[in-house]
Amino acid sequence: MQFPVILAIESSCDDTSAAVMAGGEILANVVATQQVHEQYGGVVPELASRAHQQHLIPVVQEALRRAKVDKSALDAVAFTQGPGLLGSLLVGSMFAKTFAQALDKPLIAVNHMRAHILAHFIRAPRPAFPFLCLTVSGGHTQLVIVRGPMDMQVIGQTIDDAAGEAFDKTAKLLGLPYPGGPHLDKQARLGNPTRFPFPVGAMPGYDFSFSGLKTSVLYFLRQQTTQNPDFVQENLPDLCASIQHTIIQTLLRQLIRAAQDNGLTQIALAGGVAANSGLREALTQLAAEKGWEVFIPDFEFCTDNAGMVAMTAHFQYEAGDFAAPLVSPDPRLKL
Ligand code: KG4
Ligand code: ZN
Repeated sequence: MQFPVILAIESSCDDTSAAVMAGGEILANVVATQQVHEQYGGVVPELASRAHQQHLIPVVQEALRRAKVDKSALDAVAFTQGPGLLGSLLVGSMFAKTFAQALDKPLIAVNHMRAHILAHFIRAPRPAFPFLCLTVSGGHTQLVIVRGPMDMQVIGQTIDDAAGEAFDKTAKLLGLPYPGGPHLDKQARLGNPTRFPFPVGAMPGYDFSFSGLKTSVLYFLRQQTTQNPDFVQENLPDLCASIQHTIIQTLLRQLIRAAQDNGLTQIALAGGVAANSGLREALTQLAAEKGWEVFIPDFEFCTDNAGMVAMTAHFQYEAGDFAAPLVSPDPRLKL
């Protein structure tokens, strides 16, 4: 078995995950997704903590079993310190701290946003430093210059909703189930992206804003459905395609500026929204036009997973970056 062997725990939101990595190679990545939130149309923090409590030990056992690693062979235990929901983070951190203490092994505290970015190093092709990463998830939207595994600079971020939230909230207005992003994506493939022009959130610098889009979709639908109650059903693919097009334009406008201003041609996409087919297509086309090299991790490592936490912990292990036993979760941990 290659050195070091790391068990990593991810519990920042509504996915309970455990991964085992040896010498930087992923041996197992187990994710239990919580279904309980669907009926509420969003993540309920109290229910998320309880579900983590139920799932965590079976998920860890399953990861060790799949990796064929006995807990006595572990060199370190890693966990997501933040950002995320406090109750969810507490479950993962308490488990990791106790496990590390019982095994008398070092503890590694990992930043969730850094982990989304370092997910690119789990499998080839891997970007070369420096590169520009657009992290787009249900909780975050960030543009980051990545100079090294431990050397990252946030140059732009959302001032209101995250890109994933923009997908989920507008999908909800259209009556699609939660989380709406993948449903909206599916419908959008059948529609005309320029049929309904919605405003692109144009921010100075490299920041993003999506609340204007949500409001404009809300008012537009209200106005249309008073005239025709079946407006949404009759125009669903075009509505989805137009909304998706606007979100992609908002993201790419800043991404292009940031890449050009900073002379970066290695472009990485991270987070759950990286699964969006329109965004992938638009980026691939841009890459051809601008001579960029674009990197998108496998879907398994785009959405929340402990594999990316293990990868980050691997780099931290090599750098000797260990956590004190008294370390606490930080829901607003900065990159
Ligand atoms: O990274 P992630 O799994 O969790 C967070 O850390 O938030 O991202 C989840 C987000 C949700 O908002 C979901 O709707 C969105 O990613 N998402 C998508 C697609 N697949 C997942 N959004 C648009 N198109 C998709 N295909
Ligand atoms: Zn995430």
